[in-house]
Amino acid sequence: MRRVYLDNNATTRMTEEVLEAMLPFYKDLYGNASSIHSFGRPARKAIDEARAHVSELLGTNSPELVIFTSGGYEYDNFAIFGVAQALKAKGDHIITTAIEHHAVLNTCKSLEKEGYKVTYLGVDKYGVINLEELKKAITDKTVLITIMYANNETGTIEPVIEIGEIAKKRGVCFHTDAVQAAGKLDFEVKAMNIDLLSMSGHKIYGPKGVGAIYIKKGTKITPQLLGGHHEMGKRAGTENVAGIVGLGEAARLAKRDIPDEGRIKGLRDYLYKGITSDIEDIHLNVHPEKRLPNTLNVSFTYLEGESIILNLDMEGIAVSTGSACTAGTLEPSHVLSAMGLDPVNTQGSVRFSLGRDNTKEDMDYVIGVLPPIIKRLRAMSPLYEEKKKS
Ligand SMILES: Cc1ncc(COP(=O)(O)O)c(C=O)c1O
Repeated sequence: MRRVYLDNNATTRMTEEVLEAMLPFYKDLYGNASSIHSFGRPARKAIDEARAHVSELLGTNSPELVIFTSGGYEYDNFAIFGVAQALKAKGDHIITTAIEHHAVLNTCKSLEKEGYKVTYLGVDKYGVINLEELKKAITDKTVLITIMYANNETGTIEPVIEIGEIAKKRGVCFHTDAVQAAGKLDFEVKAMNIDLLSMSGHKIYGPKGVGAIYIKKGTKITPQLLGGHHEMGKRAGTENVAGIVGLGEAARLAKRDIPDEGRIKGLRDYLYKGITSDIEDIHLNVHPEKRLPNTLNVSFTYLEGESIILNLDMEGIAVSTGSACTAGTLEPSHVLSAMGLDPVNTQGSVRFSLGRDNTKEDMDYVIGVLPPIIKRLRAMSPLYEEKKKS
């Protein structure tokens, strides 16, 4: 049976070059990067090179502003707790959105328990925030705006350039979770009034458990892992050398391969055209243009997304309903709910997230397999039966 992986927003397949780059650091080059002898020095050099590659991908020109972490959850915690603590004397108000990843949402909720005030901005039907609402939400107690670059479920791209301008004008620190944007969109963080920007290795064909955060010079942030001098004193812990090397190589390749996103976008649109020509009542859950090139989030009205996923899985096709972190909870997507999508569409949502490995043959396979599944499931759907009668 053909196997088609269309869940690249959950994670990606590590590329061969990345694995090859990492392997020596699990074998002969096992020195501690803090050691000054000949076992440690190659590790330090490799980390420095990786930092340069990540800095180039993010467009910083300043590798020393890139700090390695264990991935998305850690740096979202670091950015939010770190800035809130560092600026406690100035204020206790944070602005975020209702559609953030749980790494951000739950960290903000935890701060609320400590007495901080958090504004969760709403979004329009495409999942985009309103800049006027953002401006109105800022008070003299606001210390941080944390708004994602691109949404993991829908691929919606937020107006980060405009948000950065507003934040700068009002003297508020701006963090953006760019896990889904890095490697898919070409941007230069140094030109964007962003104080903190984070990305993760396993979303860009690199290893899991390693990520990086760009921290603009002068940003006030309290370290969350204490006790060591590592990572310019901002994140203590013996460096995950092999992981960091893998992240660096993945960043180098991602920068080189960004033009391939045009091909991926073409495949995604071909897939959408193919499935909509054969299946009725499909709702596109995002703006047709303002979204990541690889992401297609649609609802098959009157159906449960989970049953579609399981049926596709039996045909070798991997997709998801939304965030991998909430898979299995059966809770409706907080992102689609915040966009005001009606329940009958929210429950029928499926996310196809394409990647570098996908081909036109993969899309043709899905286009062939999906219609009979939808037809079969709808034949069993009481909601669909009701709709046909009305
Ligand atoms: C937008 C976003 N932020 C944070 C994370 C968490 O990143 P990690 O898996 O590296 O912990 C993810 C992962 O799905 C994500 O999509």
